Amino acid sequence: MARPSQISLLLATLVAFVTGALATVLPQPRPQPQPRDIDLPDFTADSFYSSFWNDGTAKVKYNNGPNGKYSVDWSGNKGNFVAGKGWNPGGPRVVDYSGTFAPNGNAYLSIYGWTTNPLVEYYIVESYGTHKPCSSPTDDAEQKGKVTVDGSTYEIWTKMRKNKPSIQGTATFPQYWSIRTDLRVGGTVHTDDHFKAFVASGLKMGRHSYMIVATEGQDSNGTSSIVVGVAPSS
Ligand SMILES: *[C@@H]1O[C@H](CO)[C@@H](O)[C@H](O)[C@H]1NC(C)=O
Repeated sequence: MARPSQISLLLATLVAFVTGALATVLPQPRPQPQPRDIDLPDFTADSFYSSFWNDGTAKVKYNNGPNGKYSVDWSGNKGNFVAGKGWNPGGPRVVDYSGTFAPNGNAYLSIYGWTTNPLVEYYIVESYGTHKPCSSPTDDAEQKGKVTVDGSTYEIWTKMRKNKPSIQGTATFPQYWSIRTDLRVGGTVHTDDHFKAFVASGLKMGRHSYMIVATEGQDSNGTSSIVVGVAPSS
């Protein structure tokens, strides 16, 4: 994925920083999400951080709900987007989430984020559509190992992205993938265990940027409705 501009990232980072600094000293009334917020690529509409990136060709509507709730409707079987809610910065966390994920075609439901220095884009994949990530020869991906955590085995994969969109503009950087074998929609993810598995596989991580429970679609259509911070009730 990518940023439309570095400026919006800087603004979002500044807003997140100031909001975070205030939150440590003041009792915070919970702000209601403002409709205009959904036009911005990154924003802090409530206690969760939201991110919505669209390559400009995907037909997608991101609906920012209260607290950890969001939904995405996409159509057209064209383009790439990543949307979701989480934290900025991300990092080691116990991530509860629940909801529905109903893609037609290629899409991922994952705990998704970035580190800098080194620049890394990572995915802890909980479910996917028709394409298992890293599985086709054109992915040119390498499996580094496996980790059993959060009730399933996850496969650890990596691949390089050359001159691709990133949170630092167009760049060359690795992707790290932890891909769940027993796919699910809803549960608890201990991100630290996945990060440790990356590092144990020789995949270095840097300083955490944002981390979201993301819906990503590629040339597909579908819907998702996710609540971050709430584990499934059954
Ligand atoms: C959604 O994608 C599938 C193929 O993955 C296609 O058969 C279907 O027509 C698409 N539906 C819409 C509404 O675009």
